[in-house]
This record gives sequence, structure tokens and C-alpha cells, in this order.
Amino acid sequence: MSVRLQKFLAQAGFCSRRKAEEYIRAGRVRVAGRVVDEPWFGVVTGQEVRVDDRVLRLESKVYLLLNKPAGYVTTMSDPQGRPTVTELLGAVKERVYPVGRLDFDTEGALILTNDGDFADRILHPRNEVPRTYQVRVKGYPEKILIAKLRRGVDIEGHRTSPARINKIAVNASGSIWEVIIHEGRKRQVRLMFAAIGHPVIHLRRVAYGGLGLGRLAAGRFRHLNPADLAAIIRG
Ligand code: URA
Repeated sequence: MSVRLQKFLAQAGFCSRRKAEEYIRAGRVRVAGRVVDEPWFGVVTGQEVRVDDRVLRLESKVYLLLNKPAGYVTTMSDPQGRPTVTELLGAVKERVYPVGRLDFDTEGALILTNDGDFADRILHPRNEVPRTYQVRVKGYPEKILIAKLRRGVDIEGHRTSPARINKIAVNASGSIWEVIIHEGRKRQVRLMFAAIGHPVIHLRRVAYGGLGLGRLAAGRFRHLNPADLAAIIRG
């Protein structure tokens, strides 16, 4: 039996399929001791696959939901030495990595897995998996500004896709909104509200697809079951 090299890297939980192609084309991947720079190369059962000095193994698939607290980065390591979300995963021995990103200051639902195919699937804009955020912003944006956000605003040269936005509460210091988007551009929600002059004060992702945080406390994680994975995709 053989599996394509690019898929092997993703299935081993090393990285997403897209990233795998970059590693392979860069000549950093060896199969049975020889550099292979073709992503479609067939790896036969039993052959050793290495990226740089690391030997990859096909592990069983693990899917986690973490309630990320503020003050953690979602990269695997941080040049500034800040805490990473993997530090919150205790005894999980498989090498999982975050699906998409949450900012250092953002809290809430973060999926981690070693299944690169699943990660690609829920991240791909074509599949329109919704991400639901609860956002506290400075002040109370006028209706016309919220309508603008719903239609799409230009951030860093790109127009955002239509968003669903519902008012949750208004008080003296600001207002709280539910924002549902299908994209995951860097700092997207913060940039959207900044673009209408109402900076974000607090940001929490409350659901990924149809999977909410439930009673999961900040800093805790749980393993996901097939029904949870189906809920993420169903949206
Ligand atoms: N949008 C943001 O601005 N930040 C996040 O962390 C997630 C979405």
C-alpha cells in the first residue's frame, strides 16, 4: 500500500497539506534516505519519512477543543518567549497543532488536531465553516456602520465576505455583538471594527462551526468525538 508523500506529512500531523508541499518542494523531505521533491511520490508502508532530522510516524488521529485564555499564542513556539497553547495540553502525547489562529489577546474555541486533512477541510473558505465571536467594542456603532460590516469592509486591501452581526447588549462603556464570519484572516474581527471606528475591547470565539464551548472552563480542553466533528462541519 502507498500514500502520497504530501498526504503522509499531513496525516502524520506534521503540518497541513498546503505546507507539506512547501517542505517537499524545498528538498527538506527524505523517503528511505533519499530526498524526494515530488508531493505526489508514493510512500510504501514501512519506508522511513524524514523532514530535516525528524522521523514522521502515522499516529492515531486526535481532535481537541481548547478554551484558550488570553495571554497565549497559537503558534507552536514564540520568538518572544510567550506561553503557547500547547503548554495547556498536559498529557496529550500526539503532536497536535491549532486549526487556524487566535490572537494572543483573544479567548475561546480553538480546535487542535494532528489530522491535516480535517484541518484543511474546515479552514478552506469554500466550505464556509462559520466562526462565531462575542465582541465587546468601544462605543455603540450606528446602524449604518453595522450594515457596512455586514456587507463587507476593506481591510488591508481585501474586502471581507458578508458577516452576520447581532446586537447582544449595550451599556455605558460600550456594546457587545455576536459576529459570525466564514473567513479567518489575521486579526479580522479587530480590523473590521477598527475600520468603522469602534475598536475591540474584548474578543472571544464562542463556537467553531456548530460546536460551542459549552461548559468548558478557560484553559481547559476536551477530546472531540465523531458527533462533535460532524457538528463543526455542519456549521
Ligand atoms: N479575529 C480577530 O481579530 N482575532 C482573532 O483572534 C480571531 C478573529
